[in-house]
Amino acid sequence: MAIGFPFIFILFSLFLVPSFTFPFAPIIPRFPSSAVSAELKQQSHSAPDTLYRTNFFTQILDHFNFNPQSNQTFQQRYLINDTFWGGVKNNAPIFVYTGNEGNIEWFTQNTGFMFENAPSFHALLVFIEHRFYGKSIPFGGNREVAYANASTLGYLSSTQALADYATLIIDLKKNLSATDSPVVVFGGSYGGMLAAWFRMKYPHVSIGALASSAPILHFMDLVSPYIFNSIISQDFRSESENCYKVLKGSWKLIDDIANKPGGLELLQKSFRICKSDDFGAGSLKGWLRTAWVYTAMTDYPTPSNFLNPLPAYPIKKMCEAIDRSETEKRDRLERLHEAASVFYNYTGTATCFDLDDDSDPHDLGGWQWQACTEMIMPVGGSNKHSIFPEYEWSYQDRASSCQFFYNVTPRPHWITTEFGGHAIETVLKRSASNIIFFNGLRDPWSGGGVLKNISKTVVAMVEMRGAHHVDLRYSTKEDPKWLKDVRKQEVKIIASWISQYHQDLHSNN
Ligand SMILES: *[C@@H]1O[C@H](CO)[C@@H](O)[C@H](O)[C@H]1NC(C)=O
Ligand SMILES: *[C@@H]1O[C@H](CO)[C@@H](O)[C@H](O)[C@H]1NC(C)=O
Ligand SMILES: *[C@@H]1O[C@H](CO)[C@@H](O)[C@H](O)[C@H]1NC(C)=O
Ligand SMILES: *[C@@H]1O[C@H](CO)[C@@H](O)[C@H](O)[C@H]1NC(C)=O
Ligand SMILES: *[C@@H]1O[C@H](CO)[C@@H](O)[C@H](O)[C@H]1NC(C)=O
Ligand SMILES: *[C@@H]1O[C@H](CO)[C@@H](O)[C@H](O)[C@H]1NC(C)=O
Repeated sequence: MAIGFPFIFILFSLFLVPSFTFPFAPIIPRFPSSAVSAELKQQSHSAPDTLYRTNFFTQILDHFNFNPQSNQTFQQRYLINDTFWGGVKNNAPIFVYTGNEGNIEWFTQNTGFMFENAPSFHALLVFIEHRFYGKSIPFGGNREVAYANASTLGYLSSTQALADYATLIIDLKKNLSATDSPVVVFGGSYGGMLAAWFRMKYPHVSIGALASSAPILHFMDLVSPYIFNSIISQDFRSESENCYKVLKGSWKLIDDIANKPGGLELLQKSFRICKSDDFGAGSLKGWLRTAWVYTAMTDYPTPSNFLNPLPAYPIKKMCEAIDRSETEKRDRLERLHEAASVFYNYTGTATCFDLDDDSDPHDLGGWQWQACTEMIMPVGGSNKHSIFPEYEWSYQDRASSCQFFYNVTPRPHWITTEFGGHAIETVLKRSASNIIFFNGLRDPWSGGGVLKNISKTVVAMVEMRGAHHVDLRYSTKEDPKWLKDVRKQEVKIIASWISQYHQDLHSNN
């Protein structure tokens, strides 16, 4: 069996095309979501409907336009679990997950935190799918039409998505006669950005937000385009200097070999790449880069299953593969193959690696459009300390790629105009409350996260050893103490929001 080469490759390869004279084209790493506990995965695979019911809601295509053509509707999917709900009489809370760029069912598997805390909070659980993803496709559910061109994709934006969430939540509460039940929103990664923004923009719909690994500051003029790759480099370097050096040297090594007669065949054989007419140094380097980037994001303390199954602390395992082979005097290509295998072949079932597989099992492809319009999150730059080749990030490269693919010009400052970001401490201190920003510093996205406490109720939780929204994952017996402590503190803070809300409700009645 050839192992599934993940969807992310779509994003990498698409952006290689218009500018492949560069050592690395500007890439747009997407947000992965984390893992499924082994048990849950089994459970949800064997009986996919046991964790929630699936509903559809008739949603307005364009919330911000009264032009009759914009008055079309589409079916938006949401998942609901009322097993633990304390009900209307008690004004028991509603926990809403603000869906990310992908199939919402996948995110339920990554958000054990909500399931595990629903019983003690007597919470209703609701997971709302983001428009244009999964089964929430406008234009009659016709994906081909929805993704046809900029005039249909134009309805895919964060602002529309937030308005969808508000509309749906208000209608759901009306249907349940639960007008006074407090809503807490949750999200990780882009979903976490949406959760935070939702609390800022719709304080009348939600009493608080847990925004995990939400890089709301990862925008132009707010963040260095080099920090993303610097954090990844540091992750590897903190394991061993040799590991760092081997990875850093690998790009030139690959180019040198590729340029020799028979070099490509040697590379293809050393890395066990499946037969492919398109194989080249570029695709191999993209493939390795994918492994290092995504492993850094999901460097979790326990075994996980993000795209492919991973061991606990996978970066350590990669560096062990590189360093151990060093003492065994193994070939450098063989060491790199072994390190990449931690990401691509941990289960040992791959017979060869298929670089041509651009399947997208979690339906994440729409991020490409978002990254070409509003989500100009500069991440591709590499300085001379990076494990990746030096590369100067340029907005112009992104803009040209987006012109090429979608015939659109990004609006790089729209997000900060719409949601803010500049002087965030001064602003949110007065204008916002009840937001938790969690960040794990192993996660390259943490460079654009909120890392400082802003007020008593706009709180930053920063964990040195944490990775991409590790707090939201299902708990396991092996979880380290720091992770248990993070979750405990989050629960305590959320409980305080709800109790404050109930007090306010009583004193007003
Ligand atoms: C809600 O989730 C729990 C697991 O946390 C599950 O046991 C229960 O069956 C689910 N309820 C519904 C209605 O799907
Ligand atoms: C817009 O849609 C709603 C229901 O979907 C309908 O009642 C209304 O007449 C429509 N308005 C226009 C101007 O088409
Ligand atoms: C965009 O795609 C839609 C749906 O396929 C089509 O009706 C429309 O003519 C296209 N618009 C442009 C400008 O190509
Ligand atoms: C609320 O009930 C109406 C009428 O049954 C239904 O059409 C609508 O989809 C429901 N809203 C939600 C959010 O499920
Ligand atoms: C995957 O791992 C197994 C077990 O270690 C090994 O036999 C196989 O050759 C590996 N596949 C690739 C493509 O490296
Ligand atoms: C923010 O404040 C909380 C206590 O309210 C504390 O636990 C946490 O460590 C602080 N975060 C930072 C980044 O200082």
